[in-house]
Amino acid sequence: MDTYQELGRVLVVVPTYNERDNLADVVTRIRRSVPGADLLVADDASPDGTGELADELAARDPHVHVLHRPGKAGLGAAYLGGFGWGLDRAYDVLVELDADGSHRPEELPALLAALRAADLVIGSRWVPGGRVVNWPRSRELLSRAGNAYTRTLLRLPVRDATGGYRAYRATTLKEIGLDDVESQGYCFQVDLTLRTVRAGLRVREVPITFVERTRGASKMSRAIVLEALRRVTWWAVSGEKARPGRRARSAR
Ligand code: GDD
Ligand code: MN
Repeated sequence: MDTYQELGRVLVVVPTYNERDNLADVVTRIRRSVPGADLLVADDASPDGTGELADELAARDPHVHVLHRPGKAGLGAAYLGGFGWGLDRAYDVLVELDADGSHRPEELPALLAALRAADLVIGSRWVPGGRVVNWPRSRELLSRAGNAYTRTLLRLPVRDATGGYRAYRATTLKEIGLDDVESQGYCFQVDLTLRTVRAGLRVREVPITFVERTRGASKMSRAIVLEALRRVTWWAVSGEKARPGRRARSAR
């Protein structure tokens, strides 16, 4: 029996913006690696036709679904849309996985196995055994510095709080509450990590090998870095993100 079956129904959410050259490959690899899981491509009306390709893949395979969103609104918004789709359909586990091949689908069973004793599992580049292949030095420094800043300011017991290869229990997403998440870019990852930790839920990191994409371009931008810097700093000084968890608990 697959190690993830006892977790219930798994939905792998794959956000896409201009990933036409990568999508078919990652979908094939996900289907092979976790045959029991369903897959949702959350596409922001990519100009390169990724959404149409996703429709073709979905027409051929009942495990593959597509969420067409009206336009580029950021990684955080795409995941919120995808998670909402999955929670509405009563999935028990929601996975985040990049479309560009950086997150190897072959490692997903290990993340799901760890979720049996956790509420959030992060595929981590910065724990022993984790690594990054083919990143320019500048990007590695950005990730390491971003994580150091985040960990120190927010006192997060996590080495890779910005990592985007994750598995959440549906109960975790319901408990932390997604309605008031404002993060649009990659700080979405830190946002949800912080909410999970502050709700007292269990976070585990599993080492992964992150392989930089060989096709297409990263959507990382100056604006995304600045949003992260601004929000992380604000969360640290305001203690803002402690509130949703407290509210959820006292309301029960
Ligand atoms: N729908 C949608 N809308 N998808 C998006 C958007 C968007 O606005 N922006 C990015 N994506 C998709 C990409 O198409 C890809 O599948 C995935 O999100 C990751 O985007 P990349 O642009 O490849 O990210 P990266 O490699 O620079 O960053 C990775 O590392 C970051 C931390 O260092 C990602 O894993 C991030 O999640 C992570 O925070
Ligand atoms: Mn990437």
